[in-house]
Amino acid sequence: MTARDETVGPATPATGDRPAVRVALLGCGVVGTEVVRLLTTQAADLAARVGAPLELVGVAVRDVEAERDPVVDRALLTADAEGLVAKADVVVEVVGGIEPARSLLLRAIEHGAAVVTANKALLAEDGPTLYQAADAAGVDLYFEAAVAGAIPLVRPVRESLTGDRVHRVLGIVNGTTNYVLDRMATEGLDLAGAVAEAQALGYAEADPTADVEGFDAAAKAAILASLAFHTRVSLDDVDRQGITSVTADDVAWAGRTGHVIKLLAIAERRAGADGAEGVQVRVHPALVPAEHPLAGVRGAFNAVFVEAEAAGELMFYGRGAGGAPTASAVLGDVVSAARHRVHGGRGPAESWYAALPVLPADAARTRYQVRLEVADRPGVLAQVSAELAEHGVSIEAVRQTPSAEAEDGVAHLVITTHEAPEAALAATVAAIDGLDAVRSVVSVLRVEGA
Ligand code: NDP
Ligand code: HSE
Repeated sequence: MTARDETVGPATPATGDRPAVRVALLGCGVVGTEVVRLLTTQAADLAARVGAPLELVGVAVRDVEAERDPVVDRALLTADAEGLVAKADVVVEVVGGIEPARSLLLRAIEHGAAVVTANKALLAEDGPTLYQAADAAGVDLYFEAAVAGAIPLVRPVRESLTGDRVHRVLGIVNGTTNYVLDRMATEGLDLAGAVAEAQALGYAEADPTADVEGFDAAAKAAILASLAFHTRVSLDDVDRQGITSVTADDVAWAGRTGHVIKLLAIAERRAGADGAEGVQVRVHPALVPAEHPLAGVRGAFNAVFVEAEAAGELMFYGRGAGGAPTASAVLGDVVSAARHRVHGGRGPAESWYAALPVLPADAARTRYQVRLEVADRPGVLAQVSAELAEHGVSIEAVRQTPSAEAEDGVAHLVITTHEAPEAALAATVAAIDGLDAVRSVVSVLRVEGA
């Protein structure tokens, strides 16, 4: 026997005579179908990893007559989701939305089932209700797929980093908007054209509001902030701005100044107005320097940086959406929950002991890039600079369009500031907008990652 033979274990790992772990699937759409595929095609490996077979006991859908991928055994389909959850050891919810997903999960927990969900909207709106119910029933609540699809991120933040102190989480957590901004940058498309392309490719839904208005990213930011800072953070606590105001012109100017525009989710510890530590969570488009790793995140990919005291900076990168990538994360949770059924033990409970205050948007301090159209005459730059100085906003750089490119009598100014409080910047912009020599404030964008 070689050294390798001694370590590989038996060819067919034994699952003994253990009864199957019964899995109920709620939802069989983009993600649910791929969950069925993995449960079916990987059955032997999953059984070996769990120590017992996983038996799919039913698949709840809205319309049992609808056409489905052939991987789905039609005999398992049911419209009676409530009845189904009562028959399972592990319930997987990939329906989405608040109701009936919440009631079904609570019913599953009442019946003593472990639950696995990909539902970021529900967790960000009412996660504590699910956690409390799971805790009272002594069952697992897992949700790796709810944030950044296939990327293992929830488990590292919830478990691996729980011995450390996280300072900041920053990244791209919405694939659709990253695709849209990427196409605007690389192909010169406008927002509507890029969204239409994302819809045609199946990234964006027919109603793209949740993605383009930043709700999806804000829900994920709330979940990450709750885990990272041991504090309850809900969707309403997130300062949210989507990408609908980003123009093709903004994207082109970003390129000219050595940046790309990304929709970022940021959650960080900060001192509040009273000096006490709090948590600030925001989602907004931002200029990222072209040489920053986040600038290289193309298409529908996601990437997240986590900065922790002892670990330093960690980067997580991969597919944040799509049926198969998301199903991979769901199955990881199913295996964990099923192992606990077979061998005992439990996954982590909710941890919100720190209960840090959630700070308002104006607690954030970032750098800004302000683009202005001004009269091209002596003294105008001095007036603009005076307003910045008046409001305590320090200039890092100013760039003026070469006169060959500018319209007659009009100069295009791009001002980059040092870090400034949001309230000071807003007051400065209002004052600048009121100057006679200023034709318009074309855009104000935050600069992150420098
Ligand atoms: P889909 O819209 O593709 O699928 C939803 C499924 O839920 C459908 O099978 C639908 O049934 C079923 N359903 C809807 N209402 C009910 C109901 N009342 N009772 C029973 N079943 C119902 O959604 P996705 O698969 O895209 O998303 C599912 C979840 O995964 C969401 O929470 C989403 O946020 C999350 N997620 C999705 C990702 C993705 O890339 N798509 C990535 C990460 C997370 P029917 O088929 O009959 O219409
Ligand atoms: N719509 C999301 C995205 C996928 O584009 O990233 C689900 O979280």
